[in-house]
Amino acid sequence: MSRNILVTSALPYANGPIHLGHLLEYIQTDIWVRFQKLRGHACHYVCADDAHGTPIMLKAQQLGISPEEMIAQTAIEHQQDFADFQISFDNYHSTHSDENKALAEMIYTRLNDSGYIKTRTISQLFDPEKEMFLPDRFVKGTCPRCDAEDQNGDNCDNCGATYSPTDLKHPKSVVSGATPILKDSEHFFFDLPQFKKMLGEWLNSGALQEENANKLKEWFEGDLKQWDISRDAPYFGFEIPNAPGKYFYVWLDAPIGYLASFKNLCDKRDDLNFDDFWAPGSDAEVHHFIGKDITYFHCLFWPAMLHGADLRQPTAVHAHGYVTVNGAKMSKSRGTFIKARSYLDHLNPEYLRYFYAAKLSSKIDDLDLNLEDFAQRVNSDLVGKVVNIASRTAGFISKRFDGTLSTTIADQALLDEFVNGSETIAEHYEAREFGKAMRDIMALADKANAYIAEQAPWKLVKTEGQEQHAHDVCSLAIHLFRILMVYLKPVLPAMAAEVELFLNDSLTWESTTKVLTGAKINKFKPLMQRVEMDKVTAMVDASKENLQTANVAGPATETPEQAESELAKDPLADEIQFDDFAKVDLRVALIAKAEEVPEAKKLLKLTLDLGGETRQVFAGIKSAYSPEDLEGKLTVMVANLAPRKMRFGISEGMVAAAGPGGKEIYILSPDSGAKPGMRIM
Ligand code: MSP
Ligand code: ZN
Repeated sequence: MSRNILVTSALPYANGPIHLGHLLEYIQTDIWVRFQKLRGHACHYVCADDAHGTPIMLKAQQLGISPEEMIAQTAIEHQQDFADFQISFDNYHSTHSDENKALAEMIYTRLNDSGYIKTRTISQLFDPEKEMFLPDRFVKGTCPRCDAEDQNGDNCDNCGATYSPTDLKHPKSVVSGATPILKDSEHFFFDLPQFKKMLGEWLNSGALQEENANKLKEWFEGDLKQWDISRDAPYFGFEIPNAPGKYFYVWLDAPIGYLASFKNLCDKRDDLNFDDFWAPGSDAEVHHFIGKDITYFHCLFWPAMLHGADLRQPTAVHAHGYVTVNGAKMSKSRGTFIKARSYLDHLNPEYLRYFYAAKLSSKIDDLDLNLEDFAQRVNSDLVGKVVNIASRTAGFISKRFDGTLSTTIADQALLDEFVNGSETIAEHYEAREFGKAMRDIMALADKANAYIAEQAPWKLVKTEGQEQHAHDVCSLAIHLFRILMVYLKPVLPAMAAEVELFLNDSLTWESTTKVLTGAKINKFKPLMQRVEMDKVTAMVDASKENLQTANVAGPATETPEQAESELAKDPLADEIQFDDFAKVDLRVALIAKAEEVPEAKKLLKLTLDLGGETRQVFAGIKSAYSPEDLEGKLTVMVANLAPRKMRFGISEGMVAAAGPGGKEIYILSPDSGAKPGMRIM
């Protein structure tokens, strides 16, 4: 029986690039969707950029562009990244869209008409210079418990205390640096407590993973609070109907973005009807894939909103854990905060799709992307096991047997075993136990390889009277390979497409029972290269370098002087050719000695060690550094600059530094491991 399934992944924020953490979710969802389609179900996968909210508004301001321009640019980048990772959305939209505005207004109006919206005046921190209310993360100050300075508005990194931003001592607005004041404003609340009974039933309905349902029940036993769904202008979002200057909080209209993207798809397609999926009592399925950090929004607020607005409940919410890289949180300084684009610059996306599939289960555990393990796993499973089956045998078919598969099956029992794997593997996919599916597939691949090794077709072809057997063995190997590629098709769509060309045949799930006896096949081309560790290292290194570019648009933690973007203040210089750049000899230098120059107001005298030779450099950095800050540090110097005679002596080069001057001078330093004298390229 064919099912009607609507699937979503969480909508990525439109103020940053897609990274390998996000990709766990989109790859997981995409595999599940491709599997459903391969099994013949009508499955629609929609997503969108989440384009509203204060961080997006402020980041656009920093860049000196409108939020509309910024989200348009991000939309292009996100969709290119997804396409290159073979994430096959049926529709990709934006929460800043007409459909979303109409649906958010409709849902809000229904909730309001049914008495689920309450208003009340609350007092919040307000930035008097920027004239805006400050979300918690835009306030910093001294921890009320341990007195650590420069702590976030809601929790202290030093002692772990959690508090409200009004508890901070010496609070400062991260946006302007001003001291915030308390200001009253009327807010709109979604009255969650009225949904207590409905939510109790929902938590027991089987729509959630057990660990999730249990966690939510604990929370649920405490008291449900009303949810604040409004924000005051200035805000980038939708204005609330009949409430000038009040906007929907981004998380109100974000999940409605699922509906909006699907509506947008329905409007493009004659065969899809929005209400068939969203009216109460619909027999279509709705599956949301999300990360564990956004569970409350999807498992409490969202079902209650849908219910209150007379729409159906999701069939299931599937949460996954967080990606760590090499056992730790992704880190910009270690180069493990890897953007989708940086990965694509170095590695084949299907390596990552396979690795994530092999590690994923239906549980909410975190998933470690250990990069050594990643290379080893892909090389051993995909290259060493799966592709190997074809690469050891296909050559004989083309060279000796005219590119035609034999008409006899050499080992029916072995073939049956492969065909019979189908239902168990399908059950694993359906249950999102992708790791189990991959283990079953690789166990079959091991059997195929053992069979080939035992039969040794490379010997058979040279043995008198064994040609037919050699042909049968190689042909069976190709049949087995074909079946494995059907099973792997949801994970490796690009490789599967190449195999379809190789076999002149399409890889459908039912076709596992069919045997291509006597079929013509094409010349075998290598399907996948091994993962080379130096490419992995290059990707990590490039991710370290990316930090400087990333900071141009930076997080919204700038001091007031920096509020305008650095590039706007100091535009990029004219383009140069590589040769021009190569003339500059930049070297790692050790600051062996740093001394005051008594007569000079701005200068420090540095003795720079290039690993044997030393240079004397006068640097204008006295306003920002004292000599003892510098001695023993590694830095970057321009080493082939013509010496310059100054009032206090000869300067034989320059130290690389950033910043406008005064206290804001930042000398560069290489990552640990660099040695004095190394050339910088
Ligand atoms: N905009 C919200 C979602 C709104 S859905 C109505 C959001 N965006 S996000 O860009 O921060 O994250 C998008 C998805 O990626 C979330 O499900 C999030 O859990 C997931 N991940 C982000 N970083 C991740 C990891 N490091 N690891 C795994 N998933 C991660 O949240
Ligand atoms: Zn503290």
